[in-house]
Amino acid sequence: MIKSSNIQPDFDKLTVYDSAVLASKYTAKKIAELILQKQKEGNRAILGLATGNTPKMVYEELIRMHKHEGLSFSNVVSFNLDEYYPISDNDEQSYTYFMNNNLFNHVDIKKENIHIPHTDCTSNQISEYCLDYENKIKSYGGLDLQLLGIGRNGHIGFNEPGSKFDSITRLIDLHPLTREDAIENFGDLNNVPHQAITMGINTIVQAKKILLLALGERKSEIIKKALNGTIATDVPSSILQTLPQVEYILDREAAVLIQK
Ligand code: PGA
Repeated sequence: MIKSSNIQPDFDKLTVYDSAVLASKYTAKKIAELILQKQKEGNRAILGLATGNTPKMVYEELIRMHKHEGLSFSNVVSFNLDEYYPISDNDEQSYTYFMNNNLFNHVDIKKENIHIPHTDCTSNQISEYCLDYENKIKSYGGLDLQLLGIGRNGHIGFNEPGSKFDSITRLIDLHPLTREDAIENFGDLNNVPHQAITMGINTIVQAKKILLLALGERKSEIIKKALNGTIATDVPSSILQTLPQVEYILDREAAVLIQK
């Protein structure tokens, strides 16, 4: 893997690649290594997965490894970060649809090992549902690896600005910028849900390894704030600065404002 030669990372946890493809391939390799290591140990790999544009090429690469290099997902248990509320699983904008389409339908993961927040519960069942989701993750011993993208407002999962660092899985109101960015998929702002279920920040930071992937210049402003700015709840991803198990994986464009 070729690292960019003329961008000097600010710190060890940051790797900058010349292209989104290279950054995505590296991320997929890290995930595959974890799956294989757990297979060798006879254990399950508990993966926290993300949706959005960012992880698409990571999933493409994992599918390629499954088809051409024999990478099996039979020991993988997955928990997705979030899901819109309300939305139907069959809806093309749902994250269930996204995950099936972009990864699960193409690999040998066992259906019973897939967990994505389902938003078919009524509003008075949601707190209990969220607590169950949280406890289910704990029942597997926590997440071995969490893959993250980053929102332009600094959110991780749908932990929008103002989310408490000790938050757990819950229902959240979506931030205006998040809803605006979702128009790309929903066609019109009026079609974008106002709420979502998301793993909390505390749920995420408990993961044993965290890979934050950011691609493209539109993420450069928030990457600068998240990596170099003050650690505060107005940029939820800033909490990651405090964690030793985080690796930031950027393409050159996302890293443009953190060049020395
Ligand atoms: P994106 O979203 O990958 O579609 O840019 C990332 C996020 O909002 O976390």
